[in-house]
Amino acid sequence: ELKDNTIIIVLGASGDLAKKKTFPALFGLFRLGYLPRDVKIVGYARTKMDKAEYHKRATSYLKNPDNDPETTSAIEQFKEISTYVSGSYEDSESFAQLNSHLQEIESHYQSKEANRLFYLALPPSVFVPSAKNLKEQCYSPTGQNRIIVEKPFGKDLDSSRELLDSLKQYWTEDETFRIDHYLGKEMVKNILVLRFANVAMGAAWDKNHISNVQITFKEPFGTEGRGGYFDEFGIIRDILQNHLLQVLSILTMERPVSFSAEDIRDEKVKVLRSIPPIAREDTLLGQYIAANGKPGYLDDDTVPHNSVCPTFAATTLWIHNPRWEGVPFILKAGKALNEAKVEVRIQFKDVTQGIFKDIVRNELIIRIQPSEAVYLKMNTKTPGLITRAMPTEMDLTYKRRFTETKIPEAYEALILDALKGDHSNFVRNDELDVAWKIFTPILHWIEGRQGQLPRPVPYPYGSRGPKELDGFIQKYGFKRANDAYVWPVTNLA
Ligand code: BG6
Repeated sequence: ELKDNTIIIVLGASGDLAKKKTFPALFGLFRLGYLPRDVKIVGYARTKMDKAEYHKRATSYLKNPDNDPETTSAIEQFKEISTYVSGSYEDSESFAQLNSHLQEIESHYQSKEANRLFYLALPPSVFVPSAKNLKEQCYSPTGQNRIIVEKPFGKDLDSSRELLDSLKQYWTEDETFRIDHYLGKEMVKNILVLRFANVAMGAAWDKNHISNVQITFKEPFGTEGRGGYFDEFGIIRDILQNHLLQVLSILTMERPVSFSAEDIRDEKVKVLRSIPPIAREDTLLGQYIAANGKPGYLDDDTVPHNSVCPTFAATTLWIHNPRWEGVPFILKAGKALNEAKVEVRIQFKDVTQGIFKDIVRNELIIRIQPSEAVYLKMNTKTPGLITRAMPTEMDLTYKRRFTETKIPEAYEALILDALKGDHSNFVRNDELDVAWKIFTPILHWIEGRQGQLPRPVPYPYGSRGPKELDGFIQKYGFKRANDAYVWPVTNLA
């Protein structure tokens, strides 16, 4: 399904996202032979630089720690297919020059067909002029044109609609690929299969069996260096409204009619529409403070000294449909915590009491990262001559079970999907709209638009989060297992 005669154009080629994510992903695909035959990659950004300087930057994040000769030669080949054009994002003349460069490359094609994939690794202030100029100056009349865009897609419902409307003037929904890179992660993609390819899982997937669900994102570092961007957005826009909500929708949607993009996205939108806006009392906000020699959020020079921007948030969402009525879905995310971990934790209800006392609940954990795993916490008879239940686990740790498999990077998977024209793992316009509907009221409240300015509670850098967190989760019925139980494999990672 990959088309020959394709150029991938990366706008914002000298920025952080391009360097850290886009180019490494393109290189990963190139190396494995997954890019279209004879593909060319063209960088575009404001910075004036010569070829050598550009190549140095574009490859600065490609890893080759042991100077492996095969990798070195692959990097050289990657440089050979990469060129650069500098120009402004506002000025149509610069885009006309970019277009001449693209036409020059295409003049060597055997056929007239010329396909272009534009990747916008750009700050939001130049999304719209770039999209306009690309359409007006760089649109291939003889092939496919596609555009990849990334968050932030606005800051609330109104600004998101405004942005979508502006982009829609130039690019159709079919041409547009909105990235939420969590949708490219292996374990997020696995959720559909776990749920719908297993009768045993499917049978327990509802309010009758599940007590509560937590979707957790933890990062062990603060906003160091990104404070300026972060303070305008906060953890809810950075992580919850997009990444965690996407996971939630796949976890809770009904079975799609097929695996086609629109069938999947129809079901996601449907379940999201059953979620009312988040209530204030279902929200816990935190901000990290200095500890153990690490700076607090407010110590960052790029952050206003009195900022009340949350760097931690826990919010509980409710789904009003027959499958999920009454089940709390707790989304929580934080920076500067004690560990790096993203996981879904589904806690089942208590087993009927009587023959058992004090036994732990089943939990199904989908470990998204690091060290991908699915494990089920379950009770088993203590081996030996006594009949007593003890907690243990059924464990599918990828590193152990799939020793030969390299799990692709999210961006690799998504760029390949976009090249193939598969929208399944991209965010549709109506999906974005309903995601903002759920979060906009609480965001406006946090920003003081309703008169009060709620203060996030402090938590020390490197801690598990605000001390109020345990109480918050218990309020929704989560029961912590006996402290003696530890999933042993965590230590393997
Ligand atoms: C980005 C956020 O979308 O996701 C960052 O803007 C965050 O703040 C990142 O660090 C996390 O992505 P990953 O793939 O490292 O979990």
